[in-house]
Amino acid sequence: MTEHELDFKRYSAFAKFLEDTCGIVLGDSRQYLVRSRLSPVARQLSLDSVEACIDSILAGNRQSRDLAVEAMTTNETLWFRDQYPFVLLEKEVLPQFANKAGPIRIWSAACSSGQEAYSIAMTILNYKKSGKQLRNNADILGTDISKEMLERCRLAEYDHLVMARGLDAKLKAEYFEPSGNDKYKVKSNVTAMTQFKQLNLLSSYQSLGRFDIIFCRNVLIYFSPEVKKQILQKFAACLQEGGILFLGASESITNLSEEFSMVRCHPGLYYRKTSKKP
Ligand SMILES: C[S@@+](CC[C@H](N)C(=O)[O-])C[C@H]1O[C@@H](n2cnc3c(N)ncnc32)[C@H](O)[C@@H]1O
Repeated sequence: MTEHELDFKRYSAFAKFLEDTCGIVLGDSRQYLVRSRLSPVARQLSLDSVEACIDSILAGNRQSRDLAVEAMTTNETLWFRDQYPFVLLEKEVLPQFANKAGPIRIWSAACSSGQEAYSIAMTILNYKKSGKQLRNNADILGTDISKEMLERCRLAEYDHLVMARGLDAKLKAEYFEPSGNDKYKVKSNVTAMTQFKQLNLLSSYQSLGRFDIIFCRNVLIYFSPEVKKQILQKFAACLQEGGILFLGASESITNLSEEFSMVRCHPGLYYRKTSKKP
């Protein structure tokens, strides 16, 4: 064991805590990752080592646990990530809901700092601007386990580095306004379509109601097949008949769920909840 490695017993107990708490599977040899992510947490808690930090987590200290989960989640995101889901939303999916009587309900599950939810909202505004019909508005719910990310979502203010990732000049001019300090704020016609709420994907979704469309992108990759199965089952339960699911570009439901059928498009794909046989 090098001085950077955590002892096996502590590492295994921490990995179990993380998987039980938020589904994230660390694997066998991510000691270095744990040390680098928990070092700032230990400092914040005035503990003199990562080992002491893990001991505090394992002893059930609420603050240590919450900070550890925040530190271990990966919040990488960008505007219109992978592009094709938003093209398909506009061209293939929204027309299917054009005559829906009530608002279209869309869930950005694991929304990180809000770029996915706001990209969905901008796509809908663009759809309407192009003269296409939507009988009603859309309500977009963004959820994440991270309180820090949800604060960023609600603030809806992004620096120029974040703005440079996935937004073209036209979208920037149309849906953002400068807010000082080299930052840009999402305009109120976009934020008005969104709401944000803390939710652990391992918990119940019953209080959220039913959705027409779910985006759950680039988070299932961190979970075990068993947890993925449970989440897909819960998504199916809270989607309307014929509801749509978008996963990340490298994610698939193969061998995990029979409640969705794949709709292949060019480029990309999405999943539709399969109708129950009579
Ligand atoms: C890589 S980001 C993906 C963001 C966005 N969906 C995208 O594709 O760009 C993963 C997000 O999942 C969240 N997350 C991780 N485990 C979670 C859980 N158990 N419940 C809810 N959110 C979780 C993290 O906080 C993080 O913001």
